[in-house]
Amino acid sequence: AKIVDIINKAETTHSLTKEEIVDLLRCNEYDQQLFLAADRVRSQYVGDQVHLRGLIEFSNVCQQNCFYCGLRKENTKVKRYRLSPDTIVDLAGKAKSYNYKTVVLQSGESQSYTVTEMQYIISSIKALGLAITLSLGEKNRDEYQIYREAGADRYLLRIETTNPQIYKELHPGMSFENRVRCLLDLKELGYELGTGCLVGLPNQTMECLADDILFFKTLDADMIGLGPFIPNADTPLAQEKGGTFTTSIKVMAITRLLLPEANIPATTAMETLNKNGRIIALQSGANVVMPNVTEGEYRKMYMLYPGKICVNDTPKHCIGCITGKIQGIGRHVSTEFGFRKSKKLTN
Ligand code: SAM
Ligand code: SF4
Ligand code: FES
Repeated sequence: AKIVDIINKAETTHSLTKEEIVDLLRCNEYDQQLFLAADRVRSQYVGDQVHLRGLIEFSNVCQQNCFYCGLRKENTKVKRYRLSPDTIVDLAGKAKSYNYKTVVLQSGESQSYTVTEMQYIISSIKALGLAITLSLGEKNRDEYQIYREAGADRYLLRIETTNPQIYKELHPGMSFENRVRCLLDLKELGYELGTGCLVGLPNQTMECLADDILFFKTLDADMIGLGPFIPNADTPLAQEKGGTFTTSIKVMAITRLLLPEANIPATTAMETLNKNGRIIALQSGANVVMPNVTEGEYRKMYMLYPGKICVNDTPKHCIGCITGKIQGIGRHVSTEFGFRKSKKLTN
């Protein structure tokens, strides 16, 4: 089929075959039409408001060894930190004072907080009237359930890649099956579910990326976070090329066409590759931004990849910066919680 027909089909039916997605990804001639279609679907289904989520990177301690990530256990160059539970709750309080409606608690995957400490952190932040997104990696179902009952609303766990071979090569000691198990448990427990992938991993083809997009659709994910893989010199993938900005934005735009109601962030990694990356993403299907609310030296220590933006900025500076940029393109910062569709704050 002609590329414009594929774009039309995606915009009107929100479904495509794998072959059609591959055709879209391979052809660069109609990218502007693709981005405009994704922008229209975004406007129609999730509106012109942009939801801001305050990101708290509360610990960089990690027991995993994902090949792409600077926080991997075997990277001894990282100085590890762990914010105290009360410091985390204080940061959430400050996020609230900047009018954030949601905080995202993100960390390496580790046992360095007890379940009781995490319960305390979640319930204390919940009591502030904030929505809570967790991004703590793989846990067993019971732990996910305890955090859900303590007040967590959403969970972000990217599948990273749906290609079993690539998954295996990049995640020593981990399994694709367990990652999927986590996603299904989270969904059953009533979390709003976020997943996503890295774009430009070694050996990843356009077919792999098409499978990733179809996976998000099959899972009926509520949130999808996508970004380029950016090689980190202190990891086994130091010599790799990494993903491109354009392919990342295209994967995101197609994801918007196929999952019209999803919350899709304009990610930090996109802005790392293009100084206007988040705004371009917001004009190509995205409707969420996750500004960093971590303070001081810790921002630099949560270094997944080189060139991460905002490492020398304060939370106050970032909220002003991003609010101005959002208004500059005729959009506005949402004053709502920004759940998917009509879902409301629970617990
Ligand atoms: N440890 C949790 C996990 O893995 O789900 C949450 C934190 S982890 C640092 C968050 C995300 O960072 C991962 O899902 C991964 O996609 C992304 N990431 C890690 N290394 C990256 C890199 N070199 N380039 C781009 N994104 C990266
Ligand atoms: Fe740890 Fe997450 Fe980085 Fe993997 S991606 S090494 S689990 S912080
Ligand atoms: Fe941090 Fe612009 S959002 S400096």
